[in-house]
Amino acid sequence: MAAEGAPGEEATRWHGHPPEVWRERWGVPALRIFHSVGSTNDVARALAEAGARAGTAVLADEQTRGRGRRGRAWTAPGGHGLLLSIVLHPGAAAAGVLPLRVGLAAARAVEALAGIPVAIKWPNDLMVGGRKLGGVLCEGAGEGGRSAFVVAGIGLNVLQRAHDWPPELRARATSIAAETGRAVEIPDLAGRVLADVSMAIAAGGEVLDGEETDALARRDPLRGRNVVVDGRPAGRAAGIDREGALLVQHDGATRRIISGTVRLADSGAARESDDA
Ligand code: BTN
Repeated sequence: MAAEGAPGEEATRWHGHPPEVWRERWGVPALRIFHSVGSTNDVARALAEAGARAGTAVLADEQTRGRGRRGRAWTAPGGHGLLLSIVLHPGAAAAGVLPLRVGLAAARAVEALAGIPVAIKWPNDLMVGGRKLGGVLCEGAGEGGRSAFVVAGIGLNVLQRAHDWPPELRARATSIAAETGRAVEIPDLAGRVLADVSMAIAAGGEVLDGEETDALARRDPLRGRNVVVDGRPAGRAAGIDREGALLVQHDGATRRIISGTVRLADSGAARESDDA
């Protein structure tokens, strides 16, 4: 669906129904839907600052200033992707585990609906067949620390086909439709992601539990591979610890990476600018 209405104007109908119908169907406390908006994370943050309840969700067909980690842009043609932000009150959960916890929930939602295995490349990339399907951007009131709220932004490529990406991105990006040859309904995906994320946050503790670390290990495309961290060869990736740090082994020592851009050492120059 192409974007309709002026940027920043709320949608009165979305995929055939008023937002209130979707809000009730998904069981979220509040829902804002835009055909076009700057960034759903910005809208969610403003709502959170004004006291929005945990689970409040913001959706858009299109973003004019969508962003990814580390100041990168996040773009998707109108109506082709899931662009979703959720206000979370994660309580004691350490900031480091949230992107992974949310990413795992989103990966599970895609797996359940689309039937494709989704890898989670530390800390926030959802990958299929070595290509990026989506990403998670968690932003809190106090970056890097504990805050009363965190906005979890989730971007998933749903309906794009190869020609929707510029040639230089074609080898690095994918979508559910490109992988499966069929379309998943964006409202179905939104509902499933919302349910899985809220369940994971409600059940989750301060650190990742054994089930979560096992689930991440099964989906970890870096594990056992030589990696480059922030442009420097760093050693062999050895999994993700309970605090959400990437473990990298070199010369018998294990280093914990808590932030940075990571790529496979043998992924070549074409992947140099991959998100972490
Ligand atoms: C990344 O891979 O770097 C994270 C991408 C996150 C994109 C989503 S789309 C919905 C929400 N709004 C934004 O501006 N960004 C996130």
